[in-house]
Amino acid sequence: MTAEPTADLIDGKAVAADLRARIGEAVAGIAREAGAAPALAVVLVGEDPASQVYVRNKGVAAKKAGMRSIEHRLPAETGEDEVAALVRALNDDPAVDGILVQLPLPAHVDAARIINEIDPAKDVDGLTETNAGRLMLGKRGLVPCTPQGSVMLAGTARESLSGLHAVVLGRSILVGKPLAMLLLAENCTVTMAHSRTRDLAAVCREADILCAAVGVPRLVQGDWIKPGATVIDVGINRVEEGGAARLVGDVDFEAARARAGAITPVPGGVGPMTIACLLRNTAVAAAHRRGLAAPEI
Ligand code: GUN
Repeated sequence: MTAEPTADLIDGKAVAADLRARIGEAVAGIAREAGAAPALAVVLVGEDPASQVYVRNKGVAAKKAGMRSIEHRLPAETGEDEVAALVRALNDDPAVDGILVQLPLPAHVDAARIINEIDPAKDVDGLTETNAGRLMLGKRGLVPCTPQGSVMLAGTARESLSGLHAVVLGRSILVGKPLAMLLLAENCTVTMAHSRTRDLAAVCREADILCAAVGVPRLVQGDWIKPGATVIDVGINRVEEGGAARLVGDVDFEAARARAGAITPVPGGVGPMTIACLLRNTAVAAAHRRGLAAPEI
């Protein structure tokens, strides 16, 4: 009997650790040349438990990379104008290089308005209209972190992405849309699929690179995977199983692993890359704001 083929694991933790080490060196160089370490300001409104964990992790990672971390925690009932005023104050603070407003914001706050208040030069999430537009136009700018990390991981599994058919499952502003733009910039043929796509399984089976970013636990079945495909699972879903909570992706990992050529695990795949890319964007923004050469990271 021949053994079941199993895909290579794409180790996001290791790739992110390597990236963070290079960012640490770049940050030290910026601090030396500019006389102050890059600073990342994170704004959290409310007490969403997952957001609290993310914000804490971002602060710890920034400090580990040699940056200054500034946290603003506002109560859930904070008014939209007050949040906007804080963002403007951070825009005007010369000591702040990067600003991230953690999403989701409470329902009474217009997230699009708040994000757009961020100075595009400090928009380390890459979500302002200016940076989203620059990505669309193929111009340099700050690029959303999770899509950036996803493309880096796909790049570790393939010599080149050029000419490959990439299917992006999900059309969010945070992941799906910018990810499609980045893959296009790598010369992929890109298909965007979503909840209204007819015969999602058939579309996915065409993918050389399959990126799932829909937030539905194990939506993607093993037989949706083209043999040898590279699978990038962006989903991080908390499920209760056998009385215990665990994290699973948007892909049925074990089944997909038997068909894919390479696959990211959850956790330990795309997740660690998101924070590493946030640090990367902060270092890039700091260098740019201080008139230094863009760091090679
Ligand atoms: N919430 C979940 N992911 C993200 C992200 O990448 N950026 C922000 N600002 N909020 C998030």
